[in-house]
Amino acid sequence: MSMSKEYEKLQDCLSSVRNLTDFKPETGVVLGSGLGDFADGIDVEWEIDYSSIPGFPVSTVKGHSGKFIFGTVGGKRIVCMKGRVHFYEGYPISDVVLPIRLMGLMGADKLILTNAAGGLHPEWEPGTLMLITDHISAFARNPLIGPNIEELGTRFPDMSDVYKKDLSDIIRSVAAREGIALKEGVYSYMTGPSYETPAEIRALRTLGADAVGMSTVPEAIAANHMGTGVCGISCITNYAAGISDQPLGHEEVQQAADKVSADFKKLIAGVIAAM
Ligand code: HPA
Repeated sequence: MSMSKEYEKLQDCLSSVRNLTDFKPETGVVLGSGLGDFADGIDVEWEIDYSSIPGFPVSTVKGHSGKFIFGTVGGKRIVCMKGRVHFYEGYPISDVVLPIRLMGLMGADKLILTNAAGGLHPEWEPGTLMLITDHISAFARNPLIGPNIEELGTRFPDMSDVYKKDLSDIIRSVAAREGIALKEGVYSYMTGPSYETPAEIRALRTLGADAVGMSTVPEAIAANHMGTGVCGISCITNYAAGISDQPLGHEEVQQAADKVSADFKKLIAGVIAAM
C-alpha cells in the first residue's frame, strides 16, 4: 500500500526532527495560551523551533511562541509544545494535528493537552482549573476526514474513552495533594476566531458543556486515533459570552492565565512525575 500524502509529510517532519535529536519522549505536553511558563521548569535537553521543520505549521498568533522542548520533569522524559496552531489560523485540519501525530511517532504514548477556555458556570471565576472529562465537537471539521492513515489507526475510532481514567485520576490526586482547586467538566470546541455569542453559549450549556475553547478537540481526536492516552486541563480564563456582561478580549485571557500560572505549573509537573 502506498503512503498517503499526509503520512508522507508526517514522516518527512519526523526525519527532520530525528536529524537533530534522537530523544524519545514518554509523554507529550501541549501548553495553552498564556500557560507557556511551565516550560521554565523543564530540564531542557534539546529545543527545536517549529520553523526549522520543513512543512511544519507555524503559529501566527501574538503571544504563541512556537517550539518543541525536549527534556525531563520529575525524571520523566517529555516533549513539550510551547505554542500550537489553531484551525482558525487557516491551516488545513491535517496540519493542526500534525504536531500531535509527530509526538506520537517520536514515542510519546501519553498526551497532556492544556488550553485557555471560557467558563459556562457563573460560579467559576477566571483562574479556575478544570479537568477535561469529555468533549463536544458538534460544529467542527473532524481531523480524520479524508483517506484514513492506516499506519496510525482505524477508520472509525471508538471515542467512548478518550480522556483516560487512570491519567485523570493522577491529575485529581496531584491537585488534592497540592491543595489546588480543580473543577471537572466537558470541553466544547468552537473553531473561533470570533468568540461565541450569548445564544451559542446558552446552546452549548443545553448540550452539556462546561467550558468552551478553540483548540484541544482536534488534537484529542487525532491522538486517540493513533492509540495515545489523552488527558486534559482547561484554564478557565473568562466567563463565556453572556455569563457575565463583560466583553471578551485576548488580554483578559492572558491575565487570568498568568494569575493561575503557579498552580498550573505545580499541577502539570506533579502529574508528569506521577505518570
Ligand atoms: N471562548 C472560546 N475560546 C476561548 C475563550 C472563550 O470564551 N476563552 C479562552 N479561549
